[in-house]
Amino acid sequence: MNEIVKKAKIAEDVFDFWIHSPSVSKEAGPGQFVVIRLHEKGERIPLTVADTRPEKGLFRMVVKVVGKTTHELSLKKEGDTILDVVGPLGNPSEIKNYGNVLLVGGGVGIATLYPIAKALKNVGNNITTVLGARTKDYLIMVDEFKKISDVLLVTDDGSAGMKGVVTDAMDKLFRERKFDICWAVGPTIMMKFCTLKAREFGVPIWVSLNPIMVDGTGMCGACRVTVSGQIKFACVDGPEFRGEEVDWDELLKRLAQYREQEKISYERFLRAAGESE
Ligand code: FAD
Ligand code: FES
Ligand code: MG
Repeated sequence: MNEIVKKAKIAEDVFDFWIHSPSVSKEAGPGQFVVIRLHEKGERIPLTVADTRPEKGLFRMVVKVVGKTTHELSLKKEGDTILDVVGPLGNPSEIKNYGNVLLVGGGVGIATLYPIAKALKNVGNNITTVLGARTKDYLIMVDEFKKISDVLLVTDDGSAGMKGVVTDAMDKLFRERKFDICWAVGPTIMMKFCTLKAREFGVPIWVSLNPIMVDGTGMCGACRVTVSGQIKFACVDGPEFRGEEVDWDELLKRLAQYREQEKISYERFLRAAGESE
């Protein structure tokens, strides 16, 4: 169970895994995630189900190395197993025929956007996708998105597509065409600014929130967010919410609350890994 059947490096610090878990592969819908634990002493981390192959009992996770646990996962090889995989968790995206849909993905958020894009396409939407990253070396899944949508690339340095940030591309597209709805998935600060841009043009927007999660089932309170002035738990009430309703500044503050401990834990891990080489 939970065997890593396939692993590939697809961009700078980004790894693509196919995991054997018949139940997750059969049940997961777009927008849902799993919580994994690598070993007995490992912490629990949430990762999106980026794709499924139910006929083979496989599901996909695309992971960016940002700290201890994602680094430890990136060292796993094909044939290794993950101790626990819990899911699918969270609510599936609200998929229906909206008409013209704009999807905006930043960094590894692009992977979360992929099953949403496929599902929206399957029910007849016209999809335009903006994919953004720091440089072309950090862009992922471009060819996969090109098969199902019109794609506009954006990089900070102009090494691929338009030079700028994803909201520049949104601005350009909103001036050219009418969109009925949009989705933005990426770093919290990006989603905040995408929401402001969508609001400027009066286009409704869904975002997929990424607060710290522990149990993923509504019990621990770690993923508390304020939406429309009410307390919500992103793991059970989300992870998708309407961007216009999210208290972004509170979320940004809560995301940084364990930075010091995360830094210490990662440094310890890297030291131990160096010593064991
Ligand atoms: P750390 O050094 O521990 O933390 C680095 C930063 O990651 C922290 O500052 C914090 O902002 C965030 N983080 C840390 N612990 C958690 C936690 N338990 N839960 C959430 N965020 C945390 N990342 C991917 O690469 N691919 C995905 O598909 C993906 N999907 C996600 C889906 C959801 C619903 C959520 C909430 C997060 C998702 N993430 C995804 C983010 C991923 O969970 C974090 O990058 C990971 O937990 C970092 O762990 P770390 O020990 O490597 O880093
Ligand atoms: Fe514990 Fe959501 S992760 S309540
Ligand atoms: Mg961690």
